Amino acid sequence: MRRGIDHELRVGSSAHYEDAAYYAHNYRDRTEDIAYYVARAVESGGPVLEYGCGEGRIALPIARRGIAVTGVDHSAAMLAALRAKLEDEDVRVRRGDMRAVKLRRRFPLVLCTFNTFLHLYTRDDVERFLARVREHLTPRGSFVFDVSMPAPTDLAREPSRAYKLKPVRVGGVKHGYQERFDYDPIRQVLFVAMEFLPSAGEPFVTPLAHRQFFPQELEALLHYNGFRVEKLEGGFAGEAVDRHTDSLVYTCKLTQPRASGARRSRR
Ligand SMILES: C[S@@+](CC[C@H](N)C(=O)[O-])C[C@H]1O[C@@H](n2cnc3c(N)ncnc32)[C@H](O)[C@@H]1O
Repeated sequence: MRRGIDHELRVGSSAHYEDAAYYAHNYRDRTEDIAYYVARAVESGGPVLEYGCGEGRIALPIARRGIAVTGVDHSAAMLAALRAKLEDEDVRVRRGDMRAVKLRRRFPLVLCTFNTFLHLYTRDDVERFLARVREHLTPRGSFVFDVSMPAPTDLAREPSRAYKLKPVRVGGVKHGYQERFDYDPIRQVLFVAMEFLPSAGEPFVTPLAHRQFFPQELEALLHYNGFRVEKLEGGFAGEAVDRHTDSLVYTCKLTQPRASGARRSRR
């Protein structure tokens, strides 16, 4: 039983990232967050640590502005695609689990972009990850991340119903596309089944599992793990947070910057 649950979450945090070319094509119009993170990176002066750097959708534009980036991701396919795009940018990648990787360096800006945080499913996952962020952040550095606001309509969807969306291209071939949503209110995990329907050949399904964090809960988790929220924006253009907010963009600081600096200097 336990293994089944783990498996469901493991594939829900990896299957969508196995086809890096599809990922890059699918999100090609998502550019507002890139501009936002590039501006934050330039303002910080770098270097930047990005958790869940994927195939470099955000890491590469940052590096192309002359800021050194270290990216951590557990997907071999995404990192291979990132490496293939590198020319002379200062990008280092480390394959591994963001809850565990220790780089033994600190950065003035640590990012966790585009819902990567939603792959932390349990309190233990969140605490392990935030401990890594604390270890990698300079005393007065910023930890910036964005997550989708839980959408009551998505959580209430009937699991057996398929929602048809625009056709997509997979490997250059047009596929019909639909999604099913199955929300587990106990674990607060939204399971999305992405269903691809080629005109010839077998349909296939890619699962995605996103933990749903409500804003008050997230603020408490940050608080009890050594962070204060310096700024909370309701989008990448500095929007206020309200009931229509789609993306929550957090800028956090360490609550005990001096203690953290002292620990560092003793090493
Ligand atoms: C939505 S993608 C974001 C990729 C990129 N930052 C972007 O904005 O396009 C989430 C990324 O997080 C990675 N990921 C998910 N869980 C992870 C974990 N536990 N450790 C490291 N990487 C993880 C996935 O492999 C994927 O590349």
